[in-house]
Amino acid sequence: MKKHIGILTAGGDTPGLNAAIRAIGKSAIRHYNWQVIGFKEGFRGLVHNRFVRLGREELSGILTKGGTILGTSRDKPHKMVLGNQKIDMTSTIIENYHNHNLDCLVCLGGGGTQKNANRLAAAGLNIITLPKTIDNDVWGTDITFGYDTALGIATESIDRLHSTAHSHHRIIVVEIMGHRAGWLALGAGLAGGADVILLPEIPYDANKVADAIKARKLHGSPFSIVAIAEGAMSQAEAAELDQLVALVEGAESGTAERDAAKANISEFHRKRKGSTLRLAETLENLTGLEARLTILGHVQRGGTPSARDRLLATQLGTATAELIAAGEFGKMVAVIGDETRPVLLEDVAGKKKLVPLDNPQLVSARRIGTCFGD
Ligand code: F6P
Repeated sequence: MKKHIGILTAGGDTPGLNAAIRAIGKSAIRHYNWQVIGFKEGFRGLVHNRFVRLGREELSGILTKGGTILGTSRDKPHKMVLGNQKIDMTSTIIENYHNHNLDCLVCLGGGGTQKNANRLAAAGLNIITLPKTIDNDVWGTDITFGYDTALGIATESIDRLHSTAHSHHRIIVVEIMGHRAGWLALGAGLAGGADVILLPEIPYDANKVADAIKARKLHGSPFSIVAIAEGAMSQAEAAELDQLVALVEGAESGTAERDAAKANISEFHRKRKGSTLRLAETLENLTGLEARLTILGHVQRGGTPSARDRLLATQLGTATAELIAAGEFGKMVAVIGDETRPVLLEDVAGKKKLVPLDNPQLVSARRIGTCFGD
C-alpha cells in the first residue's frame, strides 16, 4: 500500500531545513514510491489545512536554499492563537491528519517543536521528528542541523570584529543567539578567539570581565572581544531569576498566584532587553576603554546551509524514511557520533541540552586564558 507522508517545519527557521525536506521527500518518492505533502507555516497549516504537494519538481533545486520552502511559525497545537484567543486545536489537527490518510507526520523543529509533536504522538498520531536549531540545544542528540552554518557565520563575524577592535583599541561586545544554551557563543567565541565568552550556563560578574580586559591592556593588548550569548546574565540577575522560578514552582498550577509569579518572570525578561548594551557601557566605565556593541541577530539564521549541515540534514531525512518504512513512530531521529539513531520522543520533549561545565571546548577555552566572567 502506498504510504502518505506529511511534513512540517516549526519554530525559528534554520539553514538545512530545505535539505532535510528534500531528503525525506526524495527518498519517500524515489526509494519507496510514497506520496508526500508539506503543511505550510508549521502547525498552523495543519489546523487550517493549508498544504502543498511535494513532488519531484517541488523538491528539486532547494538543497542550497536558506529558510524553509514550507514557511514556519511558533504556533502550538494546544494553544493556537486565533483572533485574540488561544484555542486547543488538537482535534482539528487529528481530523486533518486522517482526512489526508497520513501514515506519518514528520515535524522538523527545535525544543518547542519536540514538545508539541510529542503531544500529538500522545494523542495517537504517527509522529517522527528531526532536531533542527542553530542553538544546538535539543536534548538527546549530539548535534542539530543549522548549528554548523550559524557557527561559521558567527565565527567569521568575530574575525572581522577583531581587526576593527584592534585598530581602535576598543572593546567590542558581540551578542550571539542562544537564550538558554550557550553552544553558539561558546563555539564561535572559541573559534574566533574571543577574549571573554559569556554564557547563560555561567552567570558573570562584570568586574571580573573588566579585570580580564584591563589585564590584557597591561600586557600590550588594549582591545578585547566579548562574545556574549543573548541569554547570559550577571550573577545578580541569575539569582533574581532563580527566586522568581522558585515562586512559580512553589505555586499550585492553575492558581492566580502561579499566574502572577509567571507574569513576574515575563517582566524580568522584558526588563533585560538591551542588557548587552548596558554591559558594554559598564565595561567602558570600568576599564576606561571605548566599547561598542554588535548584535549578530537573524543574520546567523539566514542564507545557504554549510556543507556539513546539508550532509547532516540529508542523512537525517533519509533515516526518517527508513523509520517510517519500519513503522517506528514516536521517535526523534538523533545524531550520535557519525550515526543517526531513533530516540524516544517522550524522553526528549521538555528537556534542553545545556553546555555542561566540563564540556571539552569550555575546558580548552579556560586553559588558553579565556575569561568566562566567573
Ligand atoms: O531558533 C532559535 C533562536 O535562534 C534563538 O537563539 C533566538 O533567541 C530566537 O530563535 C529568536 O527567534 P525569533 O526572533 O524568530 O523569535
